[in-house]
Amino acid sequence: MIPAIEIHDLTVSYQRKPVLWGIDCEIPEGEITAIIGPNGAGKSTLMKSILGLIPHASGHALFWGKTIAEVRSSISYMPQRESVDWDFPINVEQVVMMGRNQSMGLFKKPRAADHALVSQALRQVGLESFSKRQISELSGGQQQRVFLARALVQDADLYLMDEPFAGVDIATEEMIMQVLQSMKKAGKTIIAIHHDLLSVSQHFDNALLLNLRKIAFGKTHDVLKDPILQETYGGKLSILSEVGQLLAVEQRNTRKG
Ligand SMILES: Nc1ncnc2c1ncn2[C@@H]1O[C@H](COP(=O)(O)OP(=O)(O)OP(=O)(O)O)[C@@H](O)[C@H]1O
Ligand SMILES: [Mg+2]
Repeated sequence: MIPAIEIHDLTVSYQRKPVLWGIDCEIPEGEITAIIGPNGAGKSTLMKSILGLIPHASGHALFWGKTIAEVRSSISYMPQRESVDWDFPINVEQVVMMGRNQSMGLFKKPRAADHALVSQALRQVGLESFSKRQISELSGGQQQRVFLARALVQDADLYLMDEPFAGVDIATEEMIMQVLQSMKKAGKTIIAIHHDLLSVSQHFDNALLLNLRKIAFGKTHDVLKDPILQETYGGKLSILSEVGQLLAVEQRNTRKG
């Protein structure tokens, strides 16, 4: 089967200093893939460069064998929360409606069907009573859910999400995970940057471990292992071997059913 994303020999530099080296990876369609790695590993950079939002020094990325220019309308990108200007004077409903722009054409008036999709998405993320609230007046977790609702109304085939679980409480994390699972059931491909290794091992199909270069890529139960984690995180943290053990127990339990 043709992969949803094929990354070949991708190298990205900022001011001539490489922050990602020779990344090769094929991400399968219809599955949930995590990108894991320490702060500054180049996770956000990888997403932005394959989307063509920042230039790369060498290599390429193809989506279903096509360039980003050919498939942009079927891809949804959710940036890292800190990278967005939340003081922009716009309300929740308007932000979510921005997800419809591509489908309805810029500057066109939303139709009843667009409004219905927006209400449905806000309901899905539990924000229906916040629709007229300014986005600057939301908590961090609520802002994250606005992002998710905007992605939902886009009706894309591929979702690239930069830390969708950052700074949310357990209930919200569970809610977001359920939304991702139902998107997967609907045939969508999801790639999310995530720092919670236990959650990745429980809910994600594949993981890409990154630290300036690719450390490993594969099924989560094959790659979330102690030596690979040590290599990814520089072997500095003694807690990692505990996490490794915890994951091993978790995986044994899951297999037992
Ligand atoms: N616009 C920029 N100009 C110069 N250097 C940058 C720029 N953006 C990121 N970097 C550097 O590139 C490296 C990778 O950054 P990136 O944001 O991709 O990391 P990350 O893995 O997403 O980290 P985090 O977990 O903290 O979000 C870091 O060393 C960062 O300082
Ligand atoms: Mg990042």
